[in-house]
Amino acid sequence: MPTEGRPVPIIAPKAAFQELRRETEEAVLRVLASGDYVLGEETALFEREAAAYLGAAHGVGVSSGTEALLVALQDLEVGPGDEVVVPCFTFIATATVVARLGAKPAFVDIDPETFQMSPRGLAAAITARTRAVIPVHLYGHAAPLDEYRQAIESSGREVPMVEDAAQAIGTVCRLRGRPAKAGTVGLWGCFSFYPTKNLPACGEAGLMVTSDARHAERALQLRNHGQDAPYRHRLLGGNARLDAIQSAVLRVRLRRIEEWNERRRAHAAAYDRHFRERGLLDRPGIRLPPRPRDGEVANYHQYTVRVPRRDELKAHLAERGIQTGVYYPIPVSLQPVFERLGHVPGDFPAAEAACREVLSLPVHQHLAPGDVERVVAEISGFYRK
Ligand SMILES: Cc1ncc(COP(=O)(O)O)c(C=O)c1O
Repeated sequence: MPTEGRPVPIIAPKAAFQELRRETEEAVLRVLASGDYVLGEETALFEREAAAYLGAAHGVGVSSGTEALLVALQDLEVGPGDEVVVPCFTFIATATVVARLGAKPAFVDIDPETFQMSPRGLAAAITARTRAVIPVHLYGHAAPLDEYRQAIESSGREVPMVEDAAQAIGTVCRLRGRPAKAGTVGLWGCFSFYPTKNLPACGEAGLMVTSDARHAERALQLRNHGQDAPYRHRLLGGNARLDAIQSAVLRVRLRRIEEWNERRRAHAAAYDRHFRERGLLDRPGIRLPPRPRDGEVANYHQYTVRVPRRDELKAHLAERGIQTGVYYPIPVSLQPVFERLGHVPGDFPAAEAACREVLSLPVHQHLAPGDVERVVAEISGFYRK
């Protein structure tokens, strides 16, 4: 039964707290009483537990997903004169970290079927100046890392991948026919635990993972002013340290991540079914999110459809208490901050079309029974008008 008139928010941070309230309060109070507020034992434990969950050898806790990407590029010594290949349809941080180090983001269009960076576009973007590639697992779908690896190999150059897995904790990719968690395939994998993410902190937090001990050691130093011994600074680092309270909260929630992702997948399956049952897929221009390929598992950070008259539909749903999101309305290549790179409309047509058509529907793990059915009923009502 659809829920009548109940607001359907796109995130539910208070519900995540309530579900694990007792454990979270205990964990936070333990940190408060310890007096150990930055990094420390709690962060070391979170790093170990998160790396083990992901199947990576090393975890480095940092203060946000943005800092994770920045420290990864600092570790690779990206700087002026370098280029880093990034998709132009992503959150801005994927590209600004490159520019903040004085390097040039080399933008690539997306595959219109999957929203992910086009492997062919990636192959064409690699030059003698390319220092890294940042694949983004957009919306928590697996980016085609095998195809990216082949594209890099065929360039004849050795270019490391820094996976932007900010939206993709628990997502499973396929690598040489075998499953691998998003973030564990590249030299670095970078995660965000911003409160809207599948594994939400109660504030800012991020994580880097790698299987390379030497790079892990460098990142541990870079996140803490480049120190290799107390007050001895060997690398040009900054303050990207993770708070102990956030680590403690994340340790509690990490134990729930598989179940929370499973609930999101169930909502996604329910959306697919209701869209089909209401005949919405017979309407031109309405398209469901891409289906994971064999061996891939999406974490449904977003359930993003393509729809005609997107902004009108968004307003229609908002009037009925249903929150939706547009991720993202402008390609990164056309953002004012990157004007100096000289990109113009038409450069990346697939991303531009996506910016006009995408709409992310509520899919979080705390939706109530009937919410999905109601959202689709309201969408159906809009197109029947
Ligand atoms: C794809 C992507 N990259 C990077 C980030 C940056 O993460 P944070 O907000 O934790 O800095 C985010 C999240 O906001 C993101 O979605």
